[in-house]
Amino acid sequence: MDGGATLLGALAANRIFIPSACGGKATCGLCKVQVGTDIGPVLPTEEPYLTDEEIAEGVRLSCQVKVKHDLAISIPEELFNIEQYQARIERITRMTHDIKEFRFILQEPKVMEFKAGQYVQIDSKPYAGMQEQVSRAYSISSVPSETGAVELIIRLVPNGICTTFMHEHVKEGDTITMRGPFGEFYLREGADELIFIAGGSGLAPVKSLVFDILEKKLDKQMTFFFGAVTKKDLYYVELFRDLEKRYGNFRYIPALSNPAPEDNWDGEVGLITDVVAKFVETPANKQAYLCGSPGMINACINVLNGIGLTEDEIFFDKFT
Ligand SMILES: Cc1cc2nc3c(=O)[nH]c(=O)nc-3n(C[C@H](O)[C@H](O)[C@H](O)COP(=O)(O)OP(=O)(O)OC[C@H]3O[C@@H](n4cnc5c(N)ncnc54)[C@H](O)[C@@H]3O)c2cc1C
Ligand code: FES
Repeated sequence: MDGGATLLGALAANRIFIPSACGGKATCGLCKVQVGTDIGPVLPTEEPYLTDEEIAEGVRLSCQVKVKHDLAISIPEELFNIEQYQARIERITRMTHDIKEFRFILQEPKVMEFKAGQYVQIDSKPYAGMQEQVSRAYSISSVPSETGAVELIIRLVPNGICTTFMHEHVKEGDTITMRGPFGEFYLREGADELIFIAGGSGLAPVKSLVFDILEKKLDKQMTFFFGAVTKKDLYYVELFRDLEKRYGNFRYIPALSNPAPEDNWDGEVGLITDVVAKFVETPANKQAYLCGSPGMINACINVLNGIGLTEDEIFFDKFT
């Protein structure tokens, strides 16, 4: 391997793609690799993400470790299945004032096998005023049964490198590089009743999960809580209301925390945590799947714990 590169970059150069949702910023903690060679002490940037046990086993954040000589490493076998794709943007749809949906057709390779709830990482390209190229995580919103296409829902972050690229510098027909699938946010066995909670673009993996469950006719009761500020932040309302009409086992509860007077909103009002607490009864055989900002997820976990759901019944993807 070339000296001086990060271990994450050196592995990617050899087509071994380690999960790295933050693109190497040491803020996701997902790029863990077990290193069997002494490479010096754990860095302060790694410490928050490593347990004492992991440190004792030589686990490191591969985005922080520099490769200066040959290293012995071990990584889970499934990571060898992650591919790098060229994907053509077939369609771009504006969903809200700051959210767009992108539909990609996979060009090379042509097929992606993934589980509903997983994510891909896409690479930005340099654009006017931004020479830096980054790689960012986006959850797949389409269903796994459609293996030749991938849909993503991307919220524009003001001054965000990748979201500005996707919202303002790509067009239908362009080709993008993506890698995947990654992630542990997929359906677990065991529960009859599923609670989905999302805000903003966190709707993406929930859409994939709900449609996958309905398509497979799994015997699950599902409630989807979607939190937004005003009506202009809501999207796919008709799609989920229609599902509610067609499937007795699916319920959709959108809630606005601060509806505008002109919204004429007669649905649930309040923080999503309060709305969840109002509707979810003491659990028996329940699981919760949460997706959105870290603040929303932490607050919802507290509420769900209060209702009686345990750690192993709550799954989440924080959009850091
Ligand atoms: C597992 C996973 C799945 C994800 N799935 C999705 C998805 O489906 N859709 C989606 O839109 N995003 C998703 N994200 C978030 C996404 O990966 C990026 O972090 C986000 O789009 C910002 O990227 P950027 O390059 O535009 O911003 P950056 O250039 O990284 O950030 C620019 C500035 O904005 C701040 N910032 C970064 N992110 C946010 C934010 N979300 N809100 C407010 N400020 C922010 C940063 O601190 C920085 O100051 C996911 C993240 C993870 C970890
Ligand atoms: S890539 Fe996110 S912590 Fe290393």
